[in-house]
Amino acid sequence: MTEETADGVQSQIVKTRESNVPVRQSAPNEVGADVANPRVATASANANIALIKYWGKADEELIIPRASSLSLTLDGLTSRTTVEFFDKVDGEEDADVAGGSGSGVDCRESYDYIKSADSLTIDDVPQQGKALDRVSRFLDIVRAQSGLHLPARVVSHNTVPFGAGLASSASAFAALAAAASKAAGMDLSPRDLSRLARRGSGSACRSVFGGLVQWHAGHDDETSYAEPVDMGSLDLAVIVVLVSSDLKPVSSREAMRRTVATSPLYPAWVESCAVDLDEALNAIRQGDLERLGAITEANALGMHAAMMASRPAVLYWLPDTVAVLRAVDGIRDSGLGAWSTMDAGPNVKVLADARDARAVAAALRERVPQCEVEIHRPGSGVRLH
Ligand code: PMV
Repeated sequence: MTEETADGVQSQIVKTRESNVPVRQSAPNEVGADVANPRVATASANANIALIKYWGKADEELIIPRASSLSLTLDGLTSRTTVEFFDKVDGEEDADVAGGSGSGVDCRESYDYIKSADSLTIDDVPQQGKALDRVSRFLDIVRAQSGLHLPARVVSHNTVPFGAGLASSASAFAALAAAASKAAGMDLSPRDLSRLARRGSGSACRSVFGGLVQWHAGHDDETSYAEPVDMGSLDLAVIVVLVSSDLKPVSSREAMRRTVATSPLYPAWVESCAVDLDEALNAIRQGDLERLGAITEANALGMHAAMMASRPAVLYWLPDTVAVLRAVDGIRDSGLGAWSTMDAGPNVKVLADARDARAVAAALRERVPQCEVEIHRPGSGVRLH
């Protein structure tokens, strides 16, 4: 699938979607500020787990949420992404992709050309269809904001399973936003980077920052952004309990839409989020993990209750999801602090004090031996390489 060129760059010849134009698809050399090619940048970002959830949009296009949310960025669940904007493809010597001036190509045609020449490789697998479309649409925002109307090669490596409710889109779009904006010559503030990442996937705006992060819902593009929250004396860990890494049956985008449009419980859940967020921030200020854990668990269960009440229902849980929830209850009853949360998938994440993390993980392995258990500590925000 790949070949090594003389200069050591991995290359492959692929047919791009739509145009079927053969394109030399090089894995861009992984550097942030290549002097010879300033249109390349590489960035890494970690996934985050929401303690107070984002579920439901007020604006589908801009991805403005119905409620503010709060998350913890985790180490070890990482996307590393390189973006390279390029202005020539093999066999097209003078392709004018920058807007049509002097090329005899009208803007509309060159715009389609740009999109059709975008390429995406995830974990060494070239992507087409939905995944490439989504990235290409995101790149359109970067192209519009930067004025750099060129196609891009995107190459991403991940340690997060995709589409299993493990927040893969958060790390993916945070890394993509940082790499693409840098490669396009933009120098965004962290807040503006979070606004850009939000346009790819809402939760991605929180992965721009490390540790605890609040996403202010806002009411438009300007006012909807993330910012870090002081962890104070809290020393947190999250134990991920993998029930299944299968692709989820309903995308979070579709599930949100359905919940907002049809669930009679949704308005009550949105109302409870504002109260939960205030209480969670207070608990953090007071270093009260027990309180924070209780709110975290209740907020996630409320979100799933609202989903389940959708018509048709959105049910991500598997039998082992319930087994893990029960196990966490039992661990808590035994005197160890542990609180569950879940996203759009069957997996359970368990919030604990970092000093208890090993004991909680051991108790989980004993109670639900069929599930993989992994400890994660707070991770850093997005970084350029
Ligand atoms: O960013 P999205 O569209 O993948 O939505 C994520 C939604 C949840 O993970 C379920 C909750 C959250 O706040 O991260």
